[in-house]
Amino acid sequence: MGNRGFFLENLKNQNYTEAFKQTSSNWCFSFAPGRIEFLGNHLDYNGGTVLGMAVNAGIYCLGVPQDDTSVSLFSENFEDSAWDGDLQQIEPQNGKYSWTNYCLGVLVELKKRGLAPTKGFRLIFTSDLPASVGLSSSAALELATAHTLLQLSGHSLSKEDMVKVCRRAENDFVGMPCGILDQGTSAFGKADHLVCIECERENYYNLPLPPTTEVWVFNTRIKHDLVDSLYSTRHQECKDVFESIKEIHPARNFLCDCKMDDLSTTVLPENLRKRAIHVIKEQERVTSFCQGIENDSHLSDLGQLLTQSHESSSQNFENSCEELDFLVEKLNKHPSVLGARLTGGGFGGAVMAWVKKNFTHLDAEVIQGAYQDHFGQKIDSFHFKASDGARKECLLSK
Ligand code: GLA
Repeated sequence: MGNRGFFLENLKNQNYTEAFKQTSSNWCFSFAPGRIEFLGNHLDYNGGTVLGMAVNAGIYCLGVPQDDTSVSLFSENFEDSAWDGDLQQIEPQNGKYSWTNYCLGVLVELKKRGLAPTKGFRLIFTSDLPASVGLSSSAALELATAHTLLQLSGHSLSKEDMVKVCRRAENDFVGMPCGILDQGTSAFGKADHLVCIECERENYYNLPLPPTTEVWVFNTRIKHDLVDSLYSTRHQECKDVFESIKEIHPARNFLCDCKMDDLSTTVLPENLRKRAIHVIKEQERVTSFCQGIENDSHLSDLGQLLTQSHESSSQNFENSCEELDFLVEKLNKHPSVLGARLTGGGFGGAVMAWVKKNFTHLDAEVIQGAYQDHFGQKIDSFHFKASDGARKECLLSK
């Protein structure tokens, strides 16, 4: 899985001294997992409740303090990634250094709060997250950076505040208007559990994942060129439709707070009406899923909610594509699949399948084979475990 260099191999074996001995004798180290969006598509920035799952793969970050104000960032996973700068002059980067913006954004946010290191540092990253699968390596990079910088500065933050810092870094420094699903899930992940995030209140809790079930991801490797701008367009459409509804229903606080009845009393262009239907109904599906888990509902009924979510993404939110629809349809025909849906921003990317444990690698290969026969392209599949969230792994100071 992913690019495993020397550094990564030793970390995975918890062979920290071996991994870092050529680096320095004074270092600290953190880990943050990637995430799967389990249910609740495009609800986070609409004030809704979403379900995420932290996965058993992520980003590792080693921090080494420096005596001057130099800042060096390096990732074992990108060619030619080494970037050097100065603590006093942090600005957004582009081209091959654009990956550093996630880290520099976190640094800037910590600085604003007086929590950043006052001396320079080196950060070295490595990852076992499969690349470009939509598992939010960006949030994992932010969380791993935040945990390491806080160790270097000797300060601490609650998980809630850490999520706020990382989201601000992504919204303001990177320029991506995401909600808190990715950062919140990476921060609050728990083994064998989902993370439930009430986004408006920024409230987090864990919900047990039924033990007879597992999660698979099928990656189409399709990335729409305009994916960032399409995400921003949907974000804007949701804002616009909410403003129109609020004019007629001033008591509503955000789009996820609106009701289907509100739509019959508000004049809306067709595309905005469809976006609102998706968001309002998706919120109902998340609520039904959470209640269903608590009440031990039939897994097949709960799985249906995931499949309905995909249908709504495809028809109302219009962030699916032929390839994702094909995978969802094929997966849903398999008797061990409880439900399948696109996961994350959409417009390409990956499908997640919630399956009974008897779904095997061979079953996954059959799905991948059908995709290849139809589209002439090979795709990957991954089997993930629900895992613990971001953490400092260890701090050594000699
Ligand atoms: C991306 C964003 C999240 C969320 C999802 C869609 O993953 O980063 O904040 O909006 O899309 O649900």
